[in-house]
Amino acid sequence: CGIVGYVGTKQAAPILLDGLSKLEYRGYDSAGVAIMTDEGIVVKKKKGRLEKLSNMIDGGDAIKGIMGIGHTRWATHGEPSDMNSHPHLSQSGRFAVVHNGIIENYLKLREYLTKKGFEFISETDTEVIAHLFEYYYNGDIIDTMIKVIGKVDGSYALGVLCADDPDSFIAVRKESPLIVGLGEGENFIASDIPAILKHTKNVYFLENNEIVVLTKDDVKIYNTDREEISKETFVVDWDISAAEKGGYEHFMFKEIMEQPRAIADTVNPRIKDGRIVLDDISLTADYIRDINKIYIVACGSAYHVGVVGKYVIESMVRIPVEVIVASEFRYCNPLVDDKTLVILISQSGETADTIAAMREAKRLGARTFAIVNAVGSCIAREADDVLYTWAGPEIAVATTKAYSTQLTAIYLMSIYMAQELDMLTPELLAKYIKALEKLPDNISKLLENKGEIQYIASKYFNSKSVFFLGRTLDYAVALEGSLKLKEISYIHSEAYAAGELKHGTIALIEEGTVVVALCTVKNLFDKMLSNIKEVKARGAVVIAVAEEGHTEIEKEADYVIYLPKCDELVMPSEVVVPLQLFSYYVSSLKGLDIDKPRNLAKSVTVE
Ligand code: G6P
Repeated sequence: CGIVGYVGTKQAAPILLDGLSKLEYRGYDSAGVAIMTDEGIVVKKKKGRLEKLSNMIDGGDAIKGIMGIGHTRWATHGEPSDMNSHPHLSQSGRFAVVHNGIIENYLKLREYLTKKGFEFISETDTEVIAHLFEYYYNGDIIDTMIKVIGKVDGSYALGVLCADDPDSFIAVRKESPLIVGLGEGENFIASDIPAILKHTKNVYFLENNEIVVLTKDDVKIYNTDREEISKETFVVDWDISAAEKGGYEHFMFKEIMEQPRAIADTVNPRIKDGRIVLDDISLTADYIRDINKIYIVACGSAYHVGVVGKYVIESMVRIPVEVIVASEFRYCNPLVDDKTLVILISQSGETADTIAAMREAKRLGARTFAIVNAVGSCIAREADDVLYTWAGPEIAVATTKAYSTQLTAIYLMSIYMAQELDMLTPELLAKYIKALEKLPDNISKLLENKGEIQYIASKYFNSKSVFFLGRTLDYAVALEGSLKLKEISYIHSEAYAAGELKHGTIALIEEGTVVVALCTVKNLFDKMLSNIKEVKARGAVVIAVAEEGHTEIEKEADYVIYLPKCDELVMPSEVVVPLQLFSYYVSSLKGLDIDKPRNLAKSVTVE
């Protein structure tokens, strides 16, 4: 879910709607705003996309007021409906609440409040918060906030309007993200920076249970002992254009096209005098030498980066690597001790499963190393080391440039470890660094040929099922290609280690089934040719991806997408690009909502 709040001199509703439009990637099942008007708090909310809410309130013009809070929802407790949308009002209407997170003890609180005479009209966990405010309210909003958060277990970012305070509102966070935007004569809260970037680049990152009271001229922050605390202002260095479509039809396409730049930004500052330099990273040669095992822990596409990471790190430094999805790591009784390095990969740095895994790893004594895109996010702050990917804000739900920069971070880290352990000859180190430096140009070349992928997509966008095959590194990218396709085109797809297909899943191949065969791993090229023959013999249509020069594949495959020559180490970065474009064009040809696929949210802050 995404939340935003405003107090200033301008009309709040249009500002909130605009802010919410930048947060829709966090959920888009329903949206709502609460505005402080001359007649008290007015709430408007609607199931469905933000546009529906916007139409209902005339782009915000229908409600007048210079302070308000807004919400865009990804449903957890209670189906998407007008009633379950936020903001939620307390019984008397004195309080309006927006919430991102989950209140774990809400059933108990609901029972308690029901006994006290409160009536619930929604199925959400959030409504208990609105009623708790009313129950504890003693005229002092800070005091009331402290009492309320003392009662709730779980995660929350909250924005709360109180009808008694027409000039200020209050907010707090625990586990779920919340920032404060500091403007001139206006102040903001938001789940993420893009929502306020148009208005200010100065922000505070709130820590757990820091309570913030905002007026148009002032922002005060308190701890739960009611002591005022001071915070450092963080100045965002993105341009507003980073969070705008800038002439592109979709964010996803813009972000695909931004990959050469994003990779260069992630790599270039880390190469100095022919060596990898990771400032701020405290992994010493002595520490690395002692590592007994590396876990890579992540969710979704970031997990797929981890699968590449396993191959790359193991071959580079010969330390065993296990890749595991975060929601499993936490509960699998992992073999972790103080010689274990746990690498966490997360674009948002706020994924609840990954945060929980990080804390579990720390509890077990591991050292944690995060690869994160969002500066100042929870994982970035809590991990022992953080290596930032400089992808800039990624808005499309389906990740592209964040995935690509995460891959780059994995290469950097692997080469760095090998370099520190003196495992690379100067020639080899130079070769790897050159491979990294050449990547942006190679990807630019690939992107120029997008028409070819669009053509192939136009032939097969009606497929019922698509299989992605590859071996080792190509298999890792196949996982991502398959996820990309299914998440934005709703076509069933599966990624298979090419040698494994014959052990069962080949039963699903029939006349016309589309198989995308990734054939870039040199010593496995011939094996892939055999696998292509196997599926061709069962009627499959094969789209192959291979490095330039490997023309013998044309005899077997129906289509071949060639990639610029590069070192095998960094090849996944090239392989993924046509797969991203293929998914994009398929989704576009099907007329789907590419940037906001059904049922998904970009940043999932619940477990
Ligand atoms: C969600 C998104 C995925 C993403 C995953 C991890 O499920 O829909 O696209 O890969 O979370 O997100 P993170 O921010 O931790 O990289």
